[in-house]
Amino acid sequence: MFDSNLDRTQEILDKAKELLPPAPPVAFKLLSLLRDPSAQANDEVLEIIQFDANLTAQVLKSCNTALVRGSETIASLDDAVNRLGYQRLLEIVMAICFGKYFQRRKCYHGMDPYALWRHSIASALASRYLAYHSKHSKFSLQTAFTATLLHDFGKIILNLLDTPELDLIRPLMIEKGLSCSEAEFEILGTDHAKVAGLLMKEWELPPEIYQGIRDHNHPDLDETGYADLIYLSSQCATAIFSGTSWAEYIQTVEVHIPHRIGLTHEIIGKCLDPVSKDASAIEAYLMVA
Ligand SMILES: [Fe+2]
Repeated sequence: MFDSNLDRTQEILDKAKELLPPAPPVAFKLLSLLRDPSAQANDEVLEIIQFDANLTAQVLKSCNTALVRGSETIASLDDAVNRLGYQRLLEIVMAICFGKYFQRRKCYHGMDPYALWRHSIASALASRYLAYHSKHSKFSLQTAFTATLLHDFGKIILNLLDTPELDLIRPLMIEKGLSCSEAEFEILGTDHAKVAGLLMKEWELPPEIYQGIRDHNHPDLDETGYADLIYLSSQCATAIFSGTSWAEYIQTVEVHIPHRIGLTHEIIGKCLDPVSKDASAIEAYLMVA
């Protein structure tokens, strides 16, 4: 049932792409950093931001949200780099650039786009935390954050299609107790993960990203470990927003997955608190952006 039907996935992506607003150039530059994480590339990104007055204003507003900045005002991008570090600043810019896609009111799968975006941000923060604490040292924190931030981008892509077929997905989920991905497969012949994975491949992102996104609902299919990371991080975000502790949530998690990427339930459980605090900070600045 979950075999990738590439023709169908491509057909759906091609239709949706015509309707997808273009991402700002800085977003692609940020994504290209995943292939070239040098300090020079970081400087280029800062330069691009500086030439975009609107984006600079949004970034500074976001950095000055009390929960992010602490007690002193951040007055310039240089200030922001000094106070937050490049990595954090680039994460904020990435969230601003891609957050604009998550603004439509109605979503075929029942979760409103804002809730989906909140879930994506919390998942991305959890992913960075878990990647850092994984006993397998193969994960890049920046790749983990980005892949997880964009893991459900396929839901936004599918939503653009606005065809009557989409309206059948939610009722099918309820009627048969299916996951979103299972219902999408039944109705569309592919799912949001496959569609987003293909788009990320077309954007020439590294295989860890497009495979991780493509297989995040069926992580056994991906050998890079990033699908495992996205899967677990997304579960952490779901636990956080449902107010459930990891100990209570654990039964729903596939048992072999944490072990496969060098994590324990103890480590995962410890990330919920810092991530939920971090996610509130990011939510706060996205609201002022
Ligand atoms: Fe998903």
